[in-house]
Amino acid sequence: MSGETNHIDKVPIGTVQENDETDIVDPWTVVSKSETGVDYDKLIKKFGSSKIDEELLDRFEKVTGKKVHHLLRRGIFFSHRDMHTILNNFESGKQFYLYTGRGPSSTSMHLGHLIPFQLCKWLQDVFDVPLVIQLTDDEKTLWKDISLEEAHKMAYENAKDIIAIGFDVKKTFIFSDFDYIGQCPEFYRNMVRIQKCVTFNQVKGIFGFDDSTVIGKIAFPAVQATPALSTSFPEIFNGRKLQCLIPCAIDQDPYFRMTRDVCPRIGFSKPALLHSKFFPALQGAQTKMSASEANSTIFCSDTPKQLKNKINKHAFSGGQATVEDHRRIGGNCDVDIAFQYLRFFLEDDERLEQIRKDYTSGELLTGELKKFLIDLLSPMIAEHQERRSKITDEILKQYITPRKLEFNF
Ligand code: TRP
Repeated sequence: MSGETNHIDKVPIGTVQENDETDIVDPWTVVSKSETGVDYDKLIKKFGSSKIDEELLDRFEKVTGKKVHHLLRRGIFFSHRDMHTILNNFESGKQFYLYTGRGPSSTSMHLGHLIPFQLCKWLQDVFDVPLVIQLTDDEKTLWKDISLEEAHKMAYENAKDIIAIGFDVKKTFIFSDFDYIGQCPEFYRNMVRIQKCVTFNQVKGIFGFDDSTVIGKIAFPAVQATPALSTSFPEIFNGRKLQCLIPCAIDQDPYFRMTRDVCPRIGFSKPALLHSKFFPALQGAQTKMSASEANSTIFCSDTPKQLKNKINKHAFSGGQATVEDHRRIGGNCDVDIAFQYLRFFLEDDERLEQIRKDYTSGELLTGELKKFLIDLLSPMIAEHQERRSKITDEILKQYITPRKLEFNF
């Protein structure tokens, strides 16, 4: 796909409302009228990114010598920009770093939030590269009805959930915008370098801002762009310029289209991207899981009982109304939320395929499928909570202290 645009002012890269009459995808809204969710092939065309295809997955396996992660194998990460460049450079000894982030809008993270971080953990392990994680407490106080203090507090609550995923402290730096930006002149300078390159007209086109948008929002895209410049982290990279790879959900792409437009103009290479699909809400794939809709959401802090109730009560079923019909007609995995969640979290390909067959044929009933999901997620969430409970303020402090990281390049 060659839809790449270098002139953000000439080709408005738009909020994606016009993507398709039935889909709305931008950093704040994800809605589709289709039961199977957003049409991702159309999104690739609209955004001008590239599909993650077999060839790229083969390259991954060749370069890393490892079987590729199930989130990539199953097309949950489905789109990319410049991933071939990252792999080619890596092969010839040129390193990169990882950058991802999280906007803290609730005390606890939910299952969908774990997805990009799980891929980051795998990438960090197989490539042995440093990772920076931006907590945009500034963004959330600007967009939501949350005070600065609350957003800042939630940032560190979320940091504990992130640490519990298992990131290596020697290779991971987590920062709150409120704390780090005032602490690091190079970060601020890079932010202004970026701000100098983007007009109000451009961010209007990209993000849909208008004359009544508060100026904090108008300036914010530069904040999210800045970690893609390695010199924003002098303690880690000591002024060196390294390319960056950003795993994120596809709704974050507008920020990084802007970043990729600006980077070459200020002497940096464009960041590469890996885009994921959305993690569907319990009620169905028409929208993504959202922390502000408790009933559509499984939080990492839910009790086993809450988890079980939410799945049994709210998870949209692709099964038939009666057992007789179900045995006769079979279930529809494409719309069944329990099955969709298994695709995200069940690593065993054969097991997943067996479940798909059995549910489609009607041999497996909805209640049985849901029970399978509950039995997978309960221990997973319990273990997460166990690890999280052990993250003391002392441990948190290690991750959020600007410092040298260990990597051999
Ligand atoms: N804007 C993102 C959110 O609301 C947070 C974020 C900041 C991010 N930098 C990022 C996400 C880089 C992915 C990659 O959650």
